[in-house]
Amino acid sequence: MDYKDIFEPFERLVEIEIRGERREVPENNSLLRCFQFLSIETISYGDFCWNGDCLNCRVRVETGGKGKSVLACRTKVEENMKITELHEEIKL
Ligand code: FES
Repeated sequence: MDYKDIFEPFERLVEIEIRGERREVPENNSLLRCFQFLSIETISYGDFCWNGDCLNCRVRVETGGKGKSVLACRTKVEENMKITELHEEIKL
């Protein structure tokens, strides 16, 4: 698999936090693509529709002390994003 076929074009990696761990992921990509970047096998072969239907990509994102649930396939990564919970289908 060629990275260029999978990911949106990116120039650099940005830092996010996943359950307390700092990780570097490609800017300009959805969170689910970022997870795929971190774990190409488990995300590529996981049970994901990639288009907002299955809800298996739900994560909890915390901003300014407030948490909200979002779909990783529909949410673009932002630098310093803090992800506190992952759906069990997301195995990193
Ligand atoms: S991957 Fe199915 S809703 Fe996001």
